[in-house]
Amino acid sequence: MDTEDARQRIEKLRETIDHHNYRYYVLDSPEISDQEYDRLFRELVQLEEEYPQLITPDSPSQRVGAAPLEVFGVVEHREPMLSLGNAFSGEELIAWYKRISGLIGEERFELVAELKMDGLAVALTYEEGKLVTGATRGDGFRGEDVTQNLKTIRSIPLAVSGSVPRRFEVRGEVYLSRAGFKKLNEARAKAGQPLFANPRNAAAGSIRQLDSRVTAQRPLDIFIYGLGWVEGESPSTHWETMEYLKSLGFKVNPTNSLLGDIEEVEALYQHWIAEREHLPYEADGVVVKVNRFDLQERLGVVGREPRWAVAYKFPAIQATTRLLDVGVNVGRSGTLNPYAILEPVQVGGVTLKRAALHNEDDIRRKDIRIGDTVTVQRAGEVIPEVVGPVVSLRTGKERFFTMPTHCPVCGSSVIRPEGEAMSYCTNASCPAQAYERLKLFVSRGALDIQGIGEKQAEALFQSGLVKDVGDLYSLKDKKDELTAMERMAEKSVSNMLAAIEGSKERPLARTLFALGIRHVGSETAEILAEHFRSMDELSRATMENLTSIPAIGPKIAESVIDFFSKESNKAIIQKLRKAGVRLEMEESKREVLPFSGHEFVLTGKLEAFSRTEAEARIKELGGSAGSSVTKKTTILVAGADPGSKLDRARELGTRILTEGEFLNLLEEAKE
Ligand code: IVH
Repeated sequence: MDTEDARQRIEKLRETIDHHNYRYYVLDSPEISDQEYDRLFRELVQLEEEYPQLITPDSPSQRVGAAPLEVFGVVEHREPMLSLGNAFSGEELIAWYKRISGLIGEERFELVAELKMDGLAVALTYEEGKLVTGATRGDGFRGEDVTQNLKTIRSIPLAVSGSVPRRFEVRGEVYLSRAGFKKLNEARAKAGQPLFANPRNAAAGSIRQLDSRVTAQRPLDIFIYGLGWVEGESPSTHWETMEYLKSLGFKVNPTNSLLGDIEEVEALYQHWIAEREHLPYEADGVVVKVNRFDLQERLGVVGREPRWAVAYKFPAIQATTRLLDVGVNVGRSGTLNPYAILEPVQVGGVTLKRAALHNEDDIRRKDIRIGDTVTVQRAGEVIPEVVGPVVSLRTGKERFFTMPTHCPVCGSSVIRPEGEAMSYCTNASCPAQAYERLKLFVSRGALDIQGIGEKQAEALFQSGLVKDVGDLYSLKDKKDELTAMERMAEKSVSNMLAAIEGSKERPLARTLFALGIRHVGSETAEILAEHFRSMDELSRATMENLTSIPAIGPKIAESVIDFFSKESNKAIIQKLRKAGVRLEMEESKREVLPFSGHEFVLTGKLEAFSRTEAEARIKELGGSAGSSVTKKTTILVAGADPGSKLDRARELGTRILTEGEFLNLLEEAKE
């Protein structure tokens, strides 16, 4: 066989294998036996071994995984990956509907209902019909580049054919079927490896594997649920878009339904509650989406949640087990948090050993006694909780729980302020509180200081080198003491110090969140940072200033004021300031950079660089890059063979640059 024959045979084999892949993994209706498929696959692999120059990245043979990575690259999402608001009852669903129906001024409009898969959101970018990038959601703006791993999922097409847009991105949920999860855990048990708690964790863990050969062994699957962005035309409704994506070979959940109005949602929801146990995968609710894109656009997004969609969650999954004892944790702000110690029980695929009990009153009210058989539930992301006792199973040997009168960690006395449900340790320097604060401070969503795990934190406190989070920044002058400590190797000390130094430039919102102000989660921190723009300003804020912000109620406002009035907190902030930690809002790039305020659109072929590069340059200089010419577009860069975008730009009177002019502009901007 000469190279030309080999090339032809390889192409034919790829086409055939892709087709059978699609039949098997996407349509779930194979046409040939597994043996026959394996035979074709082996022939392809053999030929590619003989003619390695003929291997292409979209060959089905490339799904087996590649050499391990050191770290994942970062992918900036061109359009943010949003999350969804929840409705936990029929009333909440109707409230959502009424709100949006009022906003758009229509009473009846089509909706699409889809099962909410419990997996991991990913974005897949296709260029010239080929899969080029696969990314995780990350924080919604930037995710991890997991292309190699996603390529191993057989139901993700490596290439799509026909007349497809030059570039587009689809989004979907990677998941593990119940059967796949079971098989995986069985294999792990045999190999003596720790088991995954649930299919979601297993899917997420598999996608975040640095070694894609491991991912390739995991029976992952995907349902595509939307188009992220597209360069060029797209249908005008969600339903048509899904039909279109299906026709391109993407795997779309066949249970998706197009509904005439909101009335139909409840029946469908009830149907799925009855049926969900029989689904081959786990779903935690029904996502209801407004079908028409023009309406979606009018409804827009609040915070990170689109108004045009809502997740109508299934009720929590419950189980019964025995309450062995009640433990007490000391939280960040000194609260004594009782928790249930349970006889381990499986709830919705997760083994529960502990569950929340909220507070003393709650335990009383529900009449939960130690030794009771109790109902426990977990609902999605929420912390598992004890719902109540099964009174009929009481033996009479049950005991009442009482709050300890002394802190279980430092032994100081415990108070319960009048009118409050919580009890507090009275010792402001209780090590448990300081420790919890430190844990939050260094955590990923906060200042993300790696190298301070539980052991290190404990050691730092015990040595007295760290009394509060502000002390972290003076550790660099105490290197000898650190290295002298047990369990602190020189290398890990220098890593830790580097991580601490590296945390000084985090955005203000993260530092604010890291301080652990009560009721100030990461989203609230972002709102506060955006509004006050510096720690100083925020620390001077009055009740009025704070509550004038729509998202800030009196509870948060009070807690913020209380925090900044405490001497111990002032001292911490002083330490941070002295160390040079950013306490001001970072300059928004858009305001200062030469391309700020400009939206570029590229069309045609560019000589000097790829589109991705060009867009990266634009973004570096503060501009944004759009996919289609709209009124917002300020500059169109037209390369060779420009398409209809050029006509559109002319129509709108948009500024048009040749590639040469664009290069000049880049040069100028650099100066
Ligand atoms: S739509 C703007 N559709 O749920 C809408 N999401 O809570 C965003 N999810 O990050 C996504 N099934 O990971 C959509 N049929 C579905 C979904 C779905 C699961 C996940 C997705 C998203 C999260 C939002």
